[in-house]
Amino acid sequence: MSSEAVSTERRAAELRRLIEHHNYRYHVLDDPEIPDVAYDVLFDELRSLEEAHPEIVSADSPTQRVGAPPAEGFRKVDHHSPMGSLEKVTTREALERWADDVRKRLGTDEPVAYVLEPKIDGSAVSLVYERGTLVRGATRGDGERGEDVTVNLRTIEAIPLRMLDQGSAAPPALVEVRGEVYFPLDGFARFNDAQVAAGRKPAPNARNAAAGSLRQLNPAVTAERPLSIFAYGIGVLEGAELATQWETLEWLRARGLRTNPSAERLEAIAAVADTCVAWESRRADLGYEIDGIVIKVDSFDQQRRLGSLHGRPRFARAFKWAPTSAVTRLLKIHVRVGRTGVLNPLAELEPVHVGGVTVSSATLHNEDDIRRKDIREGDLVIVQRAGDVIPQVVGPAGEHESGTKPWRMPRRCPLCKAQVVRPDGEVMHRCPNRACPSRGLETLYHWVGSALDIENVGANTIKKLWDEGMVRSLPDLYRLTAGQLAELDGFAEISATRAFASIQQSKEQPFSRVLFGLNIPKVGWVIARSLALHFGTVDALMRASLEQLEEIDGIGPDRAELIAEWFADGENRVLVDELRALGLQFATAQYEQPSAGPLSGSQYVITGTLQAWSREQAKAALEALGAKVTGSVSKRTTAVIVGESPGSKAAKADELGVPVLAEADFARLLEPDA
Ligand code: IVH
Repeated sequence: MSSEAVSTERRAAELRRLIEHHNYRYHVLDDPEIPDVAYDVLFDELRSLEEAHPEIVSADSPTQRVGAPPAEGFRKVDHHSPMGSLEKVTTREALERWADDVRKRLGTDEPVAYVLEPKIDGSAVSLVYERGTLVRGATRGDGERGEDVTVNLRTIEAIPLRMLDQGSAAPPALVEVRGEVYFPLDGFARFNDAQVAAGRKPAPNARNAAAGSLRQLNPAVTAERPLSIFAYGIGVLEGAELATQWETLEWLRARGLRTNPSAERLEAIAAVADTCVAWESRRADLGYEIDGIVIKVDSFDQQRRLGSLHGRPRFARAFKWAPTSAVTRLLKIHVRVGRTGVLNPLAELEPVHVGGVTVSSATLHNEDDIRRKDIREGDLVIVQRAGDVIPQVVGPAGEHESGTKPWRMPRRCPLCKAQVVRPDGEVMHRCPNRACPSRGLETLYHWVGSALDIENVGANTIKKLWDEGMVRSLPDLYRLTAGQLAELDGFAEISATRAFASIQQSKEQPFSRVLFGLNIPKVGWVIARSLALHFGTVDALMRASLEQLEEIDGIGPDRAELIAEWFADGENRVLVDELRALGLQFATAQYEQPSAGPLSGSQYVITGTLQAWSREQAKAALEALGAKVTGSVSKRTTAVIVGESPGSKAAKADELGVPVLAEADFARLLEPDA
């Protein structure tokens, strides 16, 4: 090997170690040492090194988290030792009875310590590490056999692909780690917003969403979900000895597995019970769902002596809180307009204590759901805060009060008074007005961050400008002076001048980007570009009939109608006129070449037959976004798009660990916002 090759290998190994270290600081210790951008620099360097030298890529490199989907679905695998379940207790007394039984079985004068851990409401998994390397990850299944979902578990950044080195000590020959994969609640809320915005059904709770994400056939889809994990135990261990649960948690944590920082070791059962009760009101602040507290006898020797009954260990109990529903009065149904214009009904309740917190509002899903359950303003209703932290109205608590009537979605948007619409086949009502105040801030973010890509003006700046009332619409942005920007908190003269210059320069951005930035429903990058190239000017586009719009690839009757409606709206026309007067491009210039775009620098390969696109159309769409489309798969390939009856290219991608996209993922890639 040449000395250059040796130093490349060395640098790659060093980068991997650094990235693993910073991953650990971030995910396990929750104490990052470097900012995200510095982490990205390390990651990008490793990725470019590996792209230039495909021979040095290792399967456990942090760049290799997203692999190819399993060709034939998920294999069934036997667990090294069964994954059991827990007996539950719901009262302090039952918990104390259990502790008495434990003491009786062990001998009354033997000290017993307990480890308490939040019982995470997610999906149980087993992770097998051989000599420190993750070789297999599986779902719990029936406890004896689960499904091999290694490809999906690898995409979860909090799961180390390699255990952290312990100085000179060799990693254990074999360890089967047990843990719970879960969907953090902020990510879950965003996920459900996106589901609803895309006209799909929201997941009923974070547990379902976590379990569903693990069973996705395409790991690229799982990779997009912000899943995390808490490791809580070990099934089988060869090459190391552990004596207690507490030691096990420390052992796992030292090796890079994320354990719950709220775990506690207690010796008195009264303190155990107090803690379990106190947790009920803490659970709402956790950021993830828990459905109880797991209490385990700490000593493994004692655990073995206690044994189990019907597959449930005598050494552990799940403490679950009393039912989390209550009856209260539904005072009013409000309607909140989300950032995509979706109208969300919201229940205002007479405050009631449920599941350890006081609840005064709850989500209602949509008009159909409210009418199906016959939930009416003024009625007594049942409110539930079960596994979910977000309270729900289950239904009326009895007969309707006299004078109440079935609820209807308001005909006009509560914010802008535009007539609301409910597109065919969708359950949600929407405000069609793109200039609706609910969407102003998001439109601005989209404009500066993605569509016009304005340097030196980030989301923080936009938020400040918004809060100060200086910018409330796209035209406002172009009316700002450098002097006004300099007055903004955190801005000095130089940064204000730069931001001002970037805003002015953005007026040179091509028409297609401006169109994309206007947030016209179902007009993403590709459609915006096609519209700009096809019609040439905004005037021609505004005059276009539905038939003329439908001449464009990718525009069907629904989309054509949405586009025409958008341009027919008086307020939108004013917006276009104002932006045009301010100097933005509303005509296609000669230089609008399909070169730069959000996919610039990436390479795709298409194989098999796609349902909605011809090969040529798919290629043109990718190229319009700046991607290259090539005929053969290599390490440099960003992803392979696989249609029906794919050829050997799919297998080649699998071999090289190149991600594979199904047609639905490809559609999302083209139109992420539509
Ligand atoms: S210990 C014999 N610890 O709860 C089973 N389980 O009913 C020992 N769970 O499916 C399990 N958090 O996935 C344990 N800290 C924790 C847990 C936990 C969540 C889940 C687990 C299992 C169920 C047990």
